[in-house]
Amino acid sequence: MPRQWKCAVVGAGTVGRSHIRLIPQLPAVAKLVAACDHVPARAEAELQRNRLPSVPVYEDMAKMLKEQPEIEVVHLATPSGAHLESALMAIEAGKHIICEKPLEVTLDRVDKMINAAKAKGVKLGCIFQGRWKEDNRAVKQAAMDGRFGRISWAGAFTPWYRPDKYYEETSWHGTWKLDGGGAAMNQGIHAVDLLQWIVGPVKSVSAYGGNRSHTKIETEDAISASLEFENGAYGSIVCTTAMYPGMPTRLEIGGEHGTAVLENGLKSFSFQDRKPSDHELVEKLGPAAKPAAPFSGAQANPAAISADLHGRNISSILTSWAEGKEAETNGPEARKAIAIVLAMYESAKNGGNAVKVDYGSHG
Ligand SMILES: NC(=O)c1ccc[n+]([C@@H]2O[C@H](COP(=O)([O-])OP(=O)(O)OC[C@H]3O[C@@H](n4cnc5c(N)ncnc54)[C@H](O)[C@@H]3O)[C@@H](O)[C@H]2O)c1
Repeated sequence: MPRQWKCAVVGAGTVGRSHIRLIPQLPAVAKLVAACDHVPARAEAELQRNRLPSVPVYEDMAKMLKEQPEIEVVHLATPSGAHLESALMAIEAGKHIICEKPLEVTLDRVDKMINAAKAKGVKLGCIFQGRWKEDNRAVKQAAMDGRFGRISWAGAFTPWYRPDKYYEETSWHGTWKLDGGGAAMNQGIHAVDLLQWIVGPVKSVSAYGGNRSHTKIETEDAISASLEFENGAYGSIVCTTAMYPGMPTRLEIGGEHGTAVLENGLKSFSFQDRKPSDHELVEKLGPAAKPAAPFSGAQANPAAISADLHGRNISSILTSWAEGKEAETNGPEARKAIAIVLAMYESAKNGGNAVKVDYGSHG
């Protein structure tokens, strides 16, 4: 049975503001009962904008957890490499967690989070909102139905652009410690997750990457990998924030019986076992149905976060938990894309040598 979870948001920056805005729009599953940011004015301003002045704001998460025992779920929207400490504090207090992608920035830290939640018996769900986009789900369904036949090749391309200002505005973007990487760990990870979700586990990667134009950041702004999937398919991943003006994410999956291309919608969806509903899907979800405004998407603007998809992702997690089930994007599931990105980094550091993806032992 659906139920309303009492939620608190920690981190009221670009994406935390979205959570503050969204939770009150999901009254069937969620209620916002507190917010927290090291800079409380950020949370206060967003609450004011949304006419929620009575929601208490804290500078310190420990104090919030102590003074607001009714909190059941903590939404973590702090810098990626700082998720673990806040997660452990929330877990210790018996709270469930909805964490922004990526869960953390090393597999050791991800595993600590997953294991701590398991040991305490609390739930962990991650935001990978692209999984709730109808066109992506249609392609996932086609793969589950075996419509591609033997998949030959699949690729995920994130040819995005971020100006230097993007990296200068925060102290954490483009750092190994808190961003865990650059174009792949922060931006491309959405498409990496979709690729492995649709096609299946990536067995090994061979990558080249580095820093082409954002010379002041520590991490890569361009990386390209060749893949071998466990099912035998070959593939590619490309992630960059150095391709002005920023082009849409593109996914291609093709096999002996069909090909699908996702780019601003369902661009191509062609199978030997053609169904009338395929054409209807392309009509409904194809790029022509929703022409993209230039420079408008996340490819060029970090604040272009789809509230609708975030809302569906949050609702799905909370509904699954209310039904006593794991979230679709639970800890072990959300770990997979991080493991692929980290294998790409290891390979790139070692001259493109093939690196096996470490899926750990979470089952
Ligand atoms: N799902 C998406 O599409 C999407 C989009 C953007 C960012 N993100 C993810 O969301 C997270 C946050 O990114 P952002 O761009 O919103 O960052 P941001 O820098 O805009 O905001 C982070 C906020 O967290 C606050 N903060 C930091 N440590 C804190 C702590 N310990 N306690 C309380 N507040 C703290 C900061 O003061 C800041 O206001 C990252 O993990 C990022 O990868 C996801």
